[in-house]
Amino acid sequence: MNAGIIGIGRYVPDKSVTNKDLEKIMDTSDEWIRTRTGIEERRIADEQTNTSDMAFNAAKRAIEDAGIRGEDIDLILTATVTPDHSFPSVSSMLEEKLGAKHCAAMDISAACSGFIYGMVTAKQFIETGTYRYVLIVGAEKLSKLIDWNDRNTAVLFGDGAGAVVMGPVSEGKGILSFELGSDGSGGKFLYEDQKICMNGREVFKFAVRQMGDSAVRVIEKAGLTKEDVDFLIPHQANIRIMESARQRLDLPAEKMSNTVGKYGNTSAASIPISLVEEVEAGKIKDGDSVIMVGFGGGLTWGALLMKW
Ligand code: ACO
Repeated sequence: MNAGIIGIGRYVPDKSVTNKDLEKIMDTSDEWIRTRTGIEERRIADEQTNTSDMAFNAAKRAIEDAGIRGEDIDLILTATVTPDHSFPSVSSMLEEKLGAKHCAAMDISAACSGFIYGMVTAKQFIETGTYRYVLIVGAEKLSKLIDWNDRNTAVLFGDGAGAVVMGPVSEGKGILSFELGSDGSGGKFLYEDQKICMNGREVFKFAVRQMGDSAVRVIEKAGLTKEDVDFLIPHQANIRIMESARQRLDLPAEKMSNTVGKYGNTSAASIPISLVEEVEAGKIKDGDSVIMVGFGGGLTWGALLMKW
């Protein structure tokens, strides 16, 4: 039995904060942010909106898209570094809001790689026949961790949520290969201490190496070659990092998702938000081989190759 995506949904807050808006509150410029990161604007949730609210909106859409009911879900996995509370988990809150009727629920803390970790975890439960439908959500309210006095980090992040329902799919489809990893010795380069603390240059070097290496390895593990890859969804942290992964795979620009300009880095939400946008735009089609690859605090990384 193969595990694949059977429903998708996304949610981003209405409020957009542009680089020009940031120029008014800190010593930065639209030109600097654009050229160094590719970011033009980001969405910021209001005070009343929590991670679980954004997660709920994305999850509801994914469940509708899958054509199932909340009570059909066997497991909820929410990847987030900004849960409403350390407990109850966002996943348990979703279980109640979605009417998922006492299913298993837990959050995953693997920073920006969390959504890939969630999908790979779901695959194990589905392919062993333990569970049929797993809801995986990537949701973040990073704005609550932003130090608006730190221009090095404040310009990078945004809020939002993306979700997928995974379940059994036909032979040859779904996740064909994956890689997960972490290197705790790099934890000091990107961490939360009330606010986001980051050594941008070190994270950049790690990300450029890891994204390309992991993408190439999942292609090999699936028994495919670079020429077989139809679309790349990299974690949307910085256009320069994303471009390096694309070039490693010799893919043309139109075969890589690029939503970082609109939403900034939404951590665990960036890959599922991008997936939804690309599917809705018709850029990912039935039978396409799609790579998703991410990296983040931990340091962590994850990649998977799936047949859509
Ligand atoms: N506006 C204007 N100037 C700035 C800004 C800003 N917003 N931020 C930094 N600068 C300045 C710096 O102070 C520095 O000035 P100095 O030379 O006088 O000291 C100068 O710009 C250059 O700084 P660099 O660090 O060399 O800039 P770089 O080209 O490396 O870009 C960046 C910085 C964008 C942060 C890059 O290193 C990067 O993207 N790193 C990866 C970050 C990342 O992806 N983090 C998320 C990980 S995912 C997760 O788990 C949350």
